[in-house]
Amino acid sequence: MKFFIDTANLNEIREAYDLGVLDGVTTNPSLMAKEGIKGDANVKAHYKAICNIVDQNVSAEVIATDFDGIMREGRELAKIDDKIVVKVPMIRDGVKALKKFSSEGIRTNCTLVFSPGQAILAAKAGASYVSPFIGRLDDISQDGMELIAQIRLIYDNYSYGTEILAASIRHTIHLIKCAEIGADVATCPLKVITDLLKHPLTDSGLEKFLADHKKVNS
Ligand code: E4P
Repeated sequence: MKFFIDTANLNEIREAYDLGVLDGVTTNPSLMAKEGIKGDANVKAHYKAICNIVDQNVSAEVIATDFDGIMREGRELAKIDDKIVVKVPMIRDGVKALKKFSSEGIRTNCTLVFSPGQAILAAKAGASYVSPFIGRLDDISQDGMELIAQIRLIYDNYSYGTEILAASIRHTIHLIKCAEIGADVATCPLKVITDLLKHPLTDSGLEKFLADHKKVNS
């Protein structure tokens, strides 16, 4: 399973990369705004800075919602760096754009996916990644994890090449369930990645090992 970090914060991206387990980054307009990144030139420079930290897979989202605008923005984003994956919303013109980007060899991430039907459309349009949002479904009392399982089954039935990028992950249980189901990628905040390290028996076990070592070595 690939790990992406879901942030536009350069320090967090560096920290996750330094851990040695990072396969990519996802951003969205809200995450860019949270970092105070505004204006075309600054946005592009920020994506370039992210690309300079990681080895691959940096999702950069278009703002346009019409076909021509999505294509124009996506082509511009793709020019920033080979690592850029153009993130396109699951809307009518977005689906058309996914198909066109695919024919031009531009990698895409279809975002804001909340149903198996939307995931089928994204795959048929040739999206490189599909992003079902688990946490936001849970927030409205629907089963986000069930959606991941449904998409996995459907994609396997037809050997679709689109990778399932489980998004809106809020805690480690989400991430582990995604791994059990077989999501190809999980994108999550830094805290979820570092929370995977934690277990009280690891802490108490290490404390005891070090204490026993000290007893005979001091
Ligand atoms: C995915 O690409 C999105 O940026 C993200 O996972 C959304 O997560 P949220 O629901 O926690 O905002």
